[in-house]
Amino acid sequence: AYDVEHGEGGHMWREMQDQSAAAERVLRGRLDERFGTAHLGGLNMDARETRAIRRVKILGCGSAYYVGQMGASLIEELARIPADAEAASEFRYRDPVIEPDTLYVAVSQSGETIDTLLAVQEVRRKGGRVVGLVNVVGSAIAREVDGGIYLHAGPEVAVASTKALTTMFLAFSLLALQLGRVRDLSISDGKRIVAALQALPDQVEEVMSLSDSLVEVAEQLAAADSLFFVGRVRGFPVAREGAQKFKEITYRHAEAYQTSELKHGPLALISAAVPTVAIVPQDELTDRNVGALHEIAARGGPLVVVTHPGVDLGDVPCRRFDVPRSERELDPILLTLPLQLLAYHAASHLGLDVDKPRNLAKSVTVE
Ligand code: AGP
Repeated sequence: AYDVEHGEGGHMWREMQDQSAAAERVLRGRLDERFGTAHLGGLNMDARETRAIRRVKILGCGSAYYVGQMGASLIEELARIPADAEAASEFRYRDPVIEPDTLYVAVSQSGETIDTLLAVQEVRRKGGRVVGLVNVVGSAIAREVDGGIYLHAGPEVAVASTKALTTMFLAFSLLALQLGRVRDLSISDGKRIVAALQALPDQVEEVMSLSDSLVEVAEQLAAADSLFFVGRVRGFPVAREGAQKFKEITYRHAEAYQTSELKHGPLALISAAVPTVAIVPQDELTDRNVGALHEIAARGGPLVVVTHPGVDLGDVPCRRFDVPRSERELDPILLTLPLQLLAYHAASHLGLDVDKPRNLAKSVTVE
């Protein structure tokens, strides 16, 4: 039962509102201001082993996979270790080469997702080291891995994952920070990230307070049969997660694309009937992103832009939502939150069961 008029109620709503507190929980006791690092004893890795890592491979499904892509960027940027994320559901079927100097990272809210569990078993069977970023204590994946970071998100009931994803992102930030500081990340850069992480719980709260201002736009998006979510580099996994959330609970076709790829095909679909939600952070690609907004607007495509204060969008007709800036490496999580709210308000407006979308289970425990 939802209070459709006010668009609030149910598990997903409460779990979104718990995100600031969940962010505090995952960070608690793990940040070291003095040395600008993180302490993650549960990884069971000493400094020698940490320095020996040549590659990081992240494995997860659905939204956990998309946050894994955000995590891969964090690790590359802060620790300068080549990192990528792969859908755990595909991993074992390509008979992957397991390298001894690769750190495998399994990411899962439930810790019971069968595809992720089987990917972990594949790595271990072939002699690789795998750590877990898991929410549910004592779950199958938590028991199977060589070490890990518990997310402390608290119970998550709604099928659409929200607060667990936020804690996954922060756990990746901690992991990237610790790996970076054991390797070449300077103490000043480490302190910069620690300070930004400490500020994040309040910033999460600030973004959640945008909720009411997103209702009207969400209702307009709910009227479309098909939408694009676009972003570049750090913004692309944000777009993927935004599209996933939207399709999961509104049953609208929502497709994520790299903004840079629009002109290579999907621009043909842009029209007044196909809105685009664009992620435009203040970063080295802002001008190029704004250029793409012009291309969309020129074809009559309605635009919703999630951006940072001070970004000059020129005269592009759009609905704009500003989220606070963090350090650039940490920006993705704050850019993701309005997309949760958009999906939530759109689904509530459509009178759908936001907590239990059709055809989906909270955790997928059979292949
Ligand atoms: C998230 O909103 C989805 N319901 C889904 O993609 C989920 O993230 C995925 O099934 C992985 O679940 P896990 O984190 O429990 O492994």
